[in-house]
Amino acid sequence: LNDLTLKHPAGETGICVGTTISESEIEDLSSWIGPRTAFLITSGEVWRLHGEALAGLAARFGDRWHKIELEDGEAAKSIRVVERVWRTMIEGGGRRDSRVISFGGGSIGDLAGFAAGGFLRGVDYVQIPTTLLAQVDAAIGGKTGINLPEAKNSVGLFHHPHRVLAATSFLRTLPAAEIRSGLVEVVKMAYLLDPGLFERLELEMTSLLSADPETIAPIVAGAAAIKVSVVEQDPTEKGIRKLLNFGHTLGHAIEGALDYETLRHGEAVAYGMLFALQLSERRGLARAESSRLRAVLVAMNLPPLPELDAGSLLPFIKRDKKNRAGRGAWVLASEIGRGVVVEDVVEEELLEALAVFLDSPWSAV
Ligand SMILES: NC(=O)c1ccc[n+]([C@@H]2O[C@H](COP(=O)([O-])OP(=O)(O)OC[C@H]3O[C@@H](n4cnc5c(N)ncnc54)[C@H](O)[C@@H]3O)[C@@H](O)[C@H]2O)c1
Ligand SMILES: [Zn+2]
Repeated sequence: LNDLTLKHPAGETGICVGTTISESEIEDLSSWIGPRTAFLITSGEVWRLHGEALAGLAARFGDRWHKIELEDGEAAKSIRVVERVWRTMIEGGGRRDSRVISFGGGSIGDLAGFAAGGFLRGVDYVQIPTTLLAQVDAAIGGKTGINLPEAKNSVGLFHHPHRVLAATSFLRTLPAAEIRSGLVEVVKMAYLLDPGLFERLELEMTSLLSADPETIAPIVAGAAAIKVSVVEQDPTEKGIRKLLNFGHTLGHAIEGALDYETLRHGEAVAYGMLFALQLSERRGLARAESSRLRAVLVAMNLPPLPELDAGSLLPFIKRDKKNRAGRGAWVLASEIGRGVVVEDVVEEELLEALAVFLDSPWSAV
């Protein structure tokens, strides 16, 4: 069990990483709810698989406990669903002091955090993330939000949870591809921000892919600690937090060009990192060490990059740039433990690099 604290402008968040949710954590949750009304936001699937972990807690609150079951996965992140949640909360006697518990992956967490942040101008909530991606990334840092049909994550707010309880035993039921996809984010954070953790990933990747709760717990704790430190240094993503976008500029474009099918987020980000390495190498950075990142990604057995051309990726890269209200920012790697954000990649350089990358994504340049 590993306890971290994230200090942020609105207070602090306690983050516990362990293999299970302990009795004392359940007691803490129970007194946090106290005499108030609680709304548990989850999906049918997550509740069916893991609801028993919270059933005892639910039983203590009788009709002051409301379970709100939402659509599974990304479908939960819509304005229609938020409206439904808010109306259910009003109907269930929700007040300014009510409590929200999010129980699920990053989609449920983003939606629940947004719903909690907007309801009566903000009620307290706790994140209980059940996917690897949510445990190391989405549940930590206070970013919440929903999608519009035109653009993902385009409506949101910062609302930090009171607590994050990450239990790796939930990961047992997660498909192997979801584990791998979440591990890509861990690789990303470790490569740029924690050389020690990166070395562990190099040594243990094969066994980590099987997501044994005991083996993966220290890795989840290490990644969560990186995210905490980055968010504390840069709560509103003006500086160092941008490094977490390593691999994401092209990764998002790949996802968009593939209509969010074929590759999972982490898989697309892995290819995004390979591209960022090539861009870095073209500029004379990261040459010696990038082979170590490639080797870790090779060990992850990613599905192949589908056939794509630069022309279909470019509009998505440009949209990303517009969304960030600035020139296109790319995170490059200068060495293990160090990244740089550059804003001077012009279209000509980009197209040239993309042509090489799409031809052979895995090779050095
Ligand atoms: N707020 C942030 O800072 C932040 C950061 C990264 C990603 N995100 C968001 O997170 C979302 C992706 O999250 P995700 O990868 O967790 O996917 P997800 O929440 O969409 O869940 C994926 C699938 O896994 C299932 N699932 C959840 N837990 C399970 C378990 N223990 N066993 C078996 N199945 C389980 C879900 O039911 C769902 O079908 C995206 O919407 C993304 O925008 C947010
Ligand atoms: Zn990501």
